[in-house]
Amino acid sequence: MDASEIRRRFTDFFVHKNHLRVASAPLVAPGDPTLLFTSAGMVPFKPYFLEQAEPPSRRLTSIQKCFRTTDMDEVGDDSHLTFFEMMGNFSFGDYFKADAQAFAWELVTRELGLPPERLVTTVYLDDDEAFDIWRKIGVPESKIFRYGEAEGNYWFAGEDGPCGPCSEIYFDYGSEVDDGRESQPSDETGRYLEIWNLVFMQFLRGRDGTKTPLPAKNIDTGAGLERWAMVLQEKRSLYETDLFTPILAYVAGRCDRHYEAAAAEERRALRVITEHGRAVTFLIADGVLPGNEGRGYVLRRLIRRALYMAHTLGIDEPLLADVAGKVRAHMAPAYPELREQAALVDGVLAQEEERFRRTLETGHRMLEAAIDLKGSIAQQLQRARQGVGRPDHVEAPVDPLIREVRANIDGIASRAGTTDSATIRLLRTTIDAVLHEIGKQSDPQPTSDQLGRASLHVREITGAEAFLLYDTYGFPSELTREVAARANLGFDQDGFEAEMARQQQRGRAAAEFRMQADDALYTSIGGRTEFLGYERTRDADVVRALIVDGRAASQAQSGDLVEVILERTPFYPEGGGQVGDAGRLLAPNGEVEIRDTQARGDLIVHVGGVIRGALAVGESVEAVVDRDRRHDVMRNHTATHLLHAALRQVLGEHVRQAGSLVAPDHLRFDYTQSEPPAAEQLRAVQRLVNARIRDVVPVGVDLMPYDRAIDEGAVAIFGEKYGADVRVVHICDPDPATHDCFSKELCGGTHTPTTGFIGSFQIVSEGGVGAGVRRIEALTGAAAETWQADRLQLLNEAAEMLRSPAMDVPARLRALQEELEGARRRLAAADRSAGVGSAETLLAQAQDVDGVKVVAGRVDVASVDALRRTGDEVRRRLGSGVIVLGAVAKERPTFVAMVSDDLVQAGLHAGRLIKEVAARTGGGGGGRPEMAQAGGKDASRLDEALAATPEIVRAQRAG
Ligand code: SER
Repeated sequence: MDASEIRRRFTDFFVHKNHLRVASAPLVAPGDPTLLFTSAGMVPFKPYFLEQAEPPSRRLTSIQKCFRTTDMDEVGDDSHLTFFEMMGNFSFGDYFKADAQAFAWELVTRELGLPPERLVTTVYLDDDEAFDIWRKIGVPESKIFRYGEAEGNYWFAGEDGPCGPCSEIYFDYGSEVDDGRESQPSDETGRYLEIWNLVFMQFLRGRDGTKTPLPAKNIDTGAGLERWAMVLQEKRSLYETDLFTPILAYVAGRCDRHYEAAAAEERRALRVITEHGRAVTFLIADGVLPGNEGRGYVLRRLIRRALYMAHTLGIDEPLLADVAGKVRAHMAPAYPELREQAALVDGVLAQEEERFRRTLETGHRMLEAAIDLKGSIAQQLQRARQGVGRPDHVEAPVDPLIREVRANIDGIASRAGTTDSATIRLLRTTIDAVLHEIGKQSDPQPTSDQLGRASLHVREITGAEAFLLYDTYGFPSELTREVAARANLGFDQDGFEAEMARQQQRGRAAAEFRMQADDALYTSIGGRTEFLGYERTRDADVVRALIVDGRAASQAQSGDLVEVILERTPFYPEGGGQVGDAGRLLAPNGEVEIRDTQARGDLIVHVGGVIRGALAVGESVEAVVDRDRRHDVMRNHTATHLLHAALRQVLGEHVRQAGSLVAPDHLRFDYTQSEPPAAEQLRAVQRLVNARIRDVVPVGVDLMPYDRAIDEGAVAIFGEKYGADVRVVHICDPDPATHDCFSKELCGGTHTPTTGFIGSFQIVSEGGVGAGVRRIEALTGAAAETWQADRLQLLNEAAEMLRSPAMDVPARLRALQEELEGARRRLAAADRSAGVGSAETLLAQAQDVDGVKVVAGRVDVASVDALRRTGDEVRRRLGSGVIVLGAVAKERPTFVAMVSDDLVQAGLHAGRLIKEVAARTGGGGGGRPEMAQAGGKDASRLDEALAATPEIVRAQRAG
């Protein structure tokens, strides 16, 4: 039963049972800040369980796209995934356990025909009700296990949210799997596979772990489609189901491998590329873009992990955009958004692959410079050590290089032949570690011990160095280790892991800066904070309340993470897309660094940490907003209004704001529009915004009733809530004669006094983010200028490399590309004809080994694919016989072996044959009896290995 048939049967079954079928929600949990991704089928229905919203029917069924990072490191084995499809049925206060269990049993046993004796079930520890229901359905007592939370038999939707005990159904692969032992699901022997989880959703869990009954008793079930495919297609691995095989085969082909013939580690790499390729295709199509934090970071990690796996297989060309094409071909019938977002997905992947390639280049360059430097410092240290304590040693034992290091770090860096700042930073890390051991001053002279300790730093790549490469430049530590090994240097794995752990700790500390209290606490504080930030960025105020560790407190000490509530404040709380202000609160006896400002009801909450002294309720403080940051935010906010107006002018009035982020360093604007704007239109938008900036138009604000504002043509933002009186921000020609208004929007944000204050406006990206929604990212002020200067610099560098004027760069590149394309084509053609030509030569050399025709020889081709083609050609013409061919591809020996079917019958085995041949070049491999593929290490022994074929064939026939 293929996957689409399973999807259909599941849905039809529940539609027949009066369930309304709902489409999958996006992978990005809409409007749910507690979850990064949609991680279960019930996520989109949380408001229904909590009775915050009315479901369209009391019975729903869905097949939900899900994404979880929990099992990311296990991906590549038989059963773990990041992206999966979860089938489910849901009841909101309608049916409960009896029906849920009966439906599930009927579907798996009657509809899908799984034999009841191959199924076992579980119930929550003391859930006698569910136990009895299974009994009545006919499950024998011995096949109902009672499990608790530890065995995963209690389900929570996030830290706080709906939850309840579970009952699960497992498929039993049979006692052969655990060697006849009578294991049970919790033993995790691989014998049982969970295929369905029924959650009896009846409580609400608070952050403190308390459980209160929900208004109604509900059902939430989840069945993994991939696992069902595995069971129904009688496979032991997800990758052998039709959900994966076509994509996996494609990935293997692109990586010059044959999946079945590949070694275990290589198979794992191929699976990771396949799985991650699928996941990233879906994530990007649902609007996740690569970035350095949150969802974007997860996406980037998946992409880089897949590319790293390809790299381990010797493939460094762009690959993922093509894998996405395969995923699309296979999955778009069920998920049409994949087709709609094809251009975005391919574009993002191509860009990210290119970025990673550059990362690898930079990393290699940095490492090589560091290795050079280590080499010369090591020599100097060695000489200095030999000098220490020798009676004839009058000169200082520290050689000139070390003295120079002590005197001038930058000088060393530039002598190491580098001027780029990334490399210099890495060299500094190395040099600082050496100086730390031998002292920064030239006196006293370092002792032999000190010199010894210092040499340790230059005999290996240290944890600090590997971490810098990884954390700041994205260079994978596995690669650092490889490069180090090639240069005969050690790699401090423990040191690297310690740095990673420290980083995680820092991450946790930063996360703790988030607000921690429950809404109830803010309600109990009550009252309202007056906002003064439209007029000023500094003000004297009184502390009304303090929250430390999520609880009300009368004072806070240095080191405490606090939330501070003042009577009034110039700090802007996050809202309307604009980020909250940062800055400082200066108290009589202390200081608080404010990282964020949030609104809770009518309160404005300053979130930060006490960095000096203490602070108490009732004290007056000086509240000082970080002005430069705020000014940058204002520039971006006013520019957002100009951009919105310009888009409507250029693309049409149908354009509506669909979300925005106004941060200090950039602005992001989402808008509704199905077609991508033409490059010319985007330029027109940018021109228009900059023209308004140059006009230095005043930015005005009026307060008026909502209806009047709308009558006057002000634009309200969909989804925002407005009070009775609204603030209208307008950018209008001051000349009373015309009084043309370029922009008029309802907005509570802070704005520049005039458009001129923005300085300059630069669009840096435009792309689609979801069905009918597009996104522009842009910069203003100094950030825009820097961006332009950097781009110009890149262009100049490219022009210099191409030795042509900047204007000619695109034309030159096109010409070079064509040249390259031509050369590639000629090379491929040569490879092909060499294959055919050599097939004849090889056949002519066929030997008779005890009555078996054996063709063994070297082929002059440069890829495994070409080698395999030659093998196919020889096989076609040879008929019965054994073929072992070898070639040098990417400097390594590779082999293919083929055995005709009659000889396989007679006991010959290509996999075993090739294993022995490849072993003679230091390699390994294996594969199927009729065809196998292997790689080796030492290319100089290729001919010798091939020459051994007849003898190996003879031995195998004898054995
Ligand atoms: N929410 C439960 C799970 O994800 C059942 O759907 O397993």
